Parts: sequence; C-alpha cells; structure tokens
Amino acid sequence: MIKGYWQVVARSSEIGLKPKRVWLLGNPVVLFRTKNGIHALHDRCPHRHAELSKGRVLKNTIECPYHGWRFDEDGVCVEIPGCLTDLPKIRVPNYSVCEKDGGIFLSKHPMQNAPYVHVLTGQSHVVRMVKSKTQSTLIDVAENILDATHTHFTHKGLLRGLSQKRHLVQVELVTGEDWLEITYTGEDRQDGIISRFLDGDRVKTVGRYRRPGIAELEYWGTKGLVLATTFHLRQVSLDTVEGIGWLTGPRSGGLGYLKALIFAPFFKIALEQDRRVLQSAFNNAQSAEPLIGPLDFLRRDIEAIEVGQSPTYGPRHFEMLL
Ligand code: FES
Ligand SMILES: [Fe+2]
Repeated sequence: MIKGYWQVVARSSEIGLKPKRVWLLGNPVVLFRTKNGIHALHDRCPHRHAELSKGRVLKNTIECPYHGWRFDEDGVCVEIPGCLTDLPKIRVPNYSVCEKDGGIFLSKHPMQNAPYVHVLTGQSHVVRMVKSKTQSTLIDVAENILDATHTHFTHKGLLRGLSQKRHLVQVELVTGEDWLEITYTGEDRQDGIISRFLDGDRVKTVGRYRRPGIAELEYWGTKGLVLATTFHLRQVSLDTVEGIGWLTGPRSGGLGYLKALIFAPFFKIALEQDRRVLQSAFNNAQSAEPLIGPLDFLRRDIEAIEVGQSPTYGPRHFEMLL
C-alpha cells in the first residue's frame, strides 16, 4: 500500500562493518555496507533460508553463515563454495536504498526521487537525531506528535507552565493529496521549560503530516523559524511503532548551538512521557474504537492519508483555548 514511498529504517551510524536486520512492511531486510555504500536485500538466503544478517560482508558481497553462498550488492549469487560447475542464476530480492542526512531509507520499488528527510534540508544544522520505539499504532503516535491538547497534561511543566491559564488560539487546517498542515496562531509565550528555550514570543506553531508516517512540528518566533522536529514513523509489527526523528534549526536566527545542546535532553524527556502514555493507552484499548472529540481536528485526515485516500480538501478554521 505504501509503494512508491521511501521509509527510513535506521540511522547511518547503526550500520558499521556488520550486517544488520531491519523490518520493512513486515519483511525482514538485511542492510550491509560495502565501499560502494549501503545495500539492502531480503534477509533470507534462498538456499536453506538462513538469516543473511547473521553472516558477514566479504569483498563487496554478503556471505551466508550456513553454507557460505555469497551474494553481491544487488543480490545476485556470485559464489557457492566448492561448486566446480557454472553457478545457477539465483538472486535475492533487493531494495532501493538511499543514505541521506544520517538516515537510511528503503523502498521496495525503483525510486526516481531522493527521500524527503526534514523541513530544513540543505539549510540547517541537525541538532540531534533520536530513535524511539513505542508500543502503539502509527496513527496514534502520529496524532500524538501533532496534537496540542495533551501537552497541558502529559508535558505539564515541560512544554507548558504549571498554571491552568489558556489562550484563545486560531487554528487553520489545510490538506492535500497525501498530507495535511495545521497552524496555530495567537498562542502567547508558553512558559514550560522547553518553551523558554524558544526565544521571545511564539508567532505560530505548524504541524504537518505526510504519508507515509512523517509527522513534523515547526516553532516560529518573531524572527522566523526557531526549531523544527521531523519524525519518520513506521509500524514494525502489530504493536510496535518505530520512529527516527530529526531535530533541526536554521543556521542563523534559530536556537543556537549551545541552547540546542541543552534543549535535546528535555526533548527526550518529552518523548519518554509520550511513549509511556501511548503504551498504557494501547494496552488499555483492547481494540476499542477511539472517540473523536471536538478538538481532534486531525484524526480522521491522518487515517485517510494512511490508507491512501485523500483527506477533506480546502482550508478549515477553528478556535480553541490552548
Ligand atoms: S542457507 Fe545460505 S548458503 Fe545454505
Ligand atoms: Fe507529546
């Protein structure tokens, strides 16, 4: 269903000399690095089905740990140890791979375009990359990242202050074929610890969802974009969502290097708070349907985008106390 899209499966730093198994759309994939870059094959030897990821990389090939058959970077069998005749034509299915901005992206299909990584590609410094694993569903995690209403409770003191004070906020929701964008304006300065890093008054906060599983947030100050986070999410099994996130800022006018360094650990605490509440809700749900409340502006559209249907078109406007 998500053919034709790149999906990030690992950070570049995770793939060294040893092959590594990752999962893509329920299939095991082995990633291995040669001097020509990263390669990805179905992680099952066609001979007796051993895991290629338990083998080793040898002269630009991957060697199966069971009988030593070797496959080249495209998955073609180039060696059967001890065999004196011509090799039969054998091939392990391969994946398109792209290594970009510290992430490794895969697609089952031949791809024309480079993957979309984050909002500030080419003009940013990456503050931090984070990886998370949450017991939940893709829709629930994506919605959580973009939902503003939980911050008062789940992140009390961190993203929001301790007071109950709320502000009248204008909300605009715009949708496209496989994306949506929500903009909150009129928010006063938020006084949680994290918000204090974001200099001066907050002008607007923008949330965006793109198929497949990309959830991003932008914090805009009076002088422009201050900080952005882009999470690439993927359902790795029925109950687990993996996310790789880029925390980025513009080279000038953003957070600044030092502040960004201090900021990162607080950001991780917020992630952990979300992980905990999502996990407990997931286990408590027992496949009950969620109730769509009056402030859940995004839920139905995220669901529509994920199953390949277009969300409701045209801008919509709301007001709320945030
Ligand atoms: S199972 Fe891989 S070489 Fe035999
Ligand atoms: Fe959160």
